[in-house]
Formats: sequence, structure tokens, C-alpha cells
Amino acid sequence: MACACSTLGLSSLGFCRDLCLFRRPGRSRSRSAAPLEVMRRFFCRCAPAAKGSEWRKNRKTPVWLMRQAGRYMQSYRTLCEKYTSFRERSENLDLVVEISLQPWKVFKPDGVILFSDILTPLSGMNIPFDIVKGKGPIIHNPLREAADVDQVRDFVPEESVPYVGEALRILRAEVNNEAAVLGFVGAPFTLASYVVEGGSSKHFSKIKNLAFSQPKVLHALLAKFADSMARYIGYQADSGAQAVQIFDSWATELSPVDFEEFSLPYLKQIVDQVRQSHPSLPLILYASGSGGLLERFRLTGVDVVSLDWTVDMAEGRRRLGPEVAVQGNVDPGVLFGSKEFITARIMDTVAKAGSHKHILNLGHGIVVGTPEENVAHFFEVAKGIRY
Ligand code: CP3
Repeated sequence: MACACSTLGLSSLGFCRDLCLFRRPGRSRSRSAAPLEVMRRFFCRCAPAAKGSEWRKNRKTPVWLMRQAGRYMQSYRTLCEKYTSFRERSENLDLVVEISLQPWKVFKPDGVILFSDILTPLSGMNIPFDIVKGKGPIIHNPLREAADVDQVRDFVPEESVPYVGEALRILRAEVNNEAAVLGFVGAPFTLASYVVEGGSSKHFSKIKNLAFSQPKVLHALLAKFADSMARYIGYQADSGAQAVQIFDSWATELSPVDFEEFSLPYLKQIVDQVRQSHPSLPLILYASGSGGLLERFRLTGVDVVSLDWTVDMAEGRRRLGPEVAVQGNVDPGVLFGSKEFITARIMDTVAKAGSHKHILNLGHGIVVGTPEENVAHFFEVAKGIRY
């Protein structure tokens, strides 16, 4: 089975056995140097000059945090005073770049995620929305019928969100290969839940009403999102994203049998479509409250499953099997604890994940009000880990 490591003559160092996330069973396509770079810089955090045994000795668990840019940071809150609308902050090129780099400048994480939102593509699909302080996402005309779905346009990223491509290109240059630049998209079911509910939801009753009374209408919407998000991932990769995370935050609101009908096939469609056009792009899948669905996540074919904190890391790793890398999964609430507690929980998570195929992260995004110094402590401890 060929992979980037063997193509580049690195197999003898044992890189493949431990680290290559890109060996997929049944795939014999040899890969270019690009994923190796991603693997070295992001998944292994090795010093660029280190070679052989030095390299192995130095390797650490890569670390970045979901929502590492945002309201817990004073620099972001200061910027919010001048630029009061979230749409502006997330759709103006200069602001997107500046905000994405805010945590990079302070904490030097191994991954720098684009500052944007899973809902950003919606206006380009003819679904007007806003994100309102204190209320969250608002969809002005929720979609409930076949005629509404017919109005949804295919997403053409180069036309609708050219600033995303430009921002990723600038981020790559700014970060200068010292960290991986990450893109992201929303998964079809999660996007559908917002546009059908009209915003955030507690019981998901409107989308369940659609799913369980007019499934064909929901399937038509999900298929549109799947195709558009696969294209959006490709666009992000072409613009410089070195890995892309798919957020299916609300998939776990579905029973397993309904996940198999309304989420899994569309996640698979995205993964398959992206593999055709961008075979070496690492894909990460996140869902909150995912314990009941882990084995099914593996069926999507993603490289990395991002675990929320309700799953024990050791159990999650075992249930996902050796082919899949894991990300996570410290409770974001731990960042409200003492520094000693934060350190202990990081060590516990890393020990349970084992010394390879693990990206340290939280089990969900950083919560508003989290002390910045505790985030700094998290990164400091994480980056000091040696094996
Ligand atoms: O991780 C990062 O640093 C990248 C930034 C990012 C944002 N949204 C910025 C944002 C990412 C990855 C997202 C994804 C996203 N957006 C998800 C999936 C992740 C998850 O949380 O499950 C979802 C479900 C959304 C939809 C959404 N956008 C919600 C529920 C909210 C929160 C509303 C609120 O007021 O708390 C948003 C707004 C949003 N997106 C904020 C940020 C930093 C907060 C608003 C602000 O900063 O003004």
C-alpha cells in the first residue's frame, strides 16, 4: 500500500506505521509531498529541520481549539465595538484575516482556522440569514416546502465568497508553514436544521416534522447542501486550506436509524466527492454528543473524528478503530478550572489517546467568558508534551 511517506523514501524511519493518516485501506494511489508536509507540520508538530530519531524524539501532539478566535478574547471584543455586525466581521477580507490571526499571534496553535461561520454560504444559495447578538442565527424565510427548496441555488464559492479564498491564501502566507491552515463547512443535516427551524432550536421539531412527514423534500435539500459543501471544501483546499473540518453539530439529535437516512449518506457523498477531486486532503468530522453514533461516523470515510467530551477518549479511540485519527476532547468547561486541573485533564486526555493519530482539542468550542490566561496555559502545557 503506497503512501506519501514511501514515495518520499521515509518509510524506513517508521513514519508510516505510527503517523501516516493518509493510508487508507484499499487505496494504492501514491500521494504527493503536500500531505506529508501537512502531516509533519500539523499532525506531528515536528521542528522543520529535525530528522530521523531527533524528529521522533521531538514529536508532540498537535493542538488547536475550536472557536479559538472569538468573544473570550479581549482583542476580538475590542474589534466588535468598531465592527458591530457578525456578518461584517466574518465577510470582510481584512477582518477575517485579522480575527483568524488573533489567536495565532498570542498562542501559536498548530492549526489556524479560518474565521467564518457554517452559515456563511447561505446567502450565496439564496437563503438570507443574519447572526444577531444574544439571539444567534436567524433565517429570515425558513424553508418548509418543496417550492422553498426549489429556490435554493447551487453554491459557487468563487462568485459568492471570493474573500474566503483570498483570506485562506493570505493566512497561508502569514502562517508561513509554522501551522496548518484549516477550513471548515457545515454538514448538510446541521445546515438544514438551521434553515428549516429558522435558527437555533431546542427540540428540532420543525425539521423532524419535515423528515418524518415529507422526507423527499428534506432529502432534496440535503442533496443540494451536500453537493455545494463538497464544492466549497474543494474551493477552500484550492485556496490553501490544508485540512477541512465538517461540523455536523446537530446530527446527534437524530436517532441512529434516522442518522443513517438523513445525515450519513450526505456526509459520505461529501467525502467521496472530495476524495475524487482532492484525494490527499485530510477531512475531520465533528458532532456534539456523539457517543451513540461513533461507529457510524467511521463509515463516512473521514480521516479524523473529533470527539466531544461526553465520550471517554480511550473508549472513543477503541470504538473508532486504528485507521481513524481522533481529535479532542477536553470539556470546554475545564478551562474555567484551576491551572493544575487543566494540566491534569490535558495529560489524562493525551494518555488515553496514545502517542499517535491524536490532535488535542476541546470537545466543543471555547465558551464565552473563558479566561484567556487559561487558554494560554492550555496551549503552553500542550506544546510542552514529549513522548
Ligand atoms: O473555530 C473557530 O475559531 C472558527 C470560527 C467559527 C465560528 N462559527 C465563528 C462564530 C466556527 C468554526 C463556527 C461554526 C459554527 N457556527 C457551528 C459549528 C460549531 C458548533 O458550535 O457546533 C455552528 C452550529 C454555527 C452557527 C452559529 N454561529 C451559532 C450557534 C452561533 C452562536 C451565536 C451566539 O451568539 O453565541 C454563531 C455565531 C458565531 N460564529 C460566533 C462566532 C465567534 C459568535 C458571535 C460573535 O462572535 O459575534
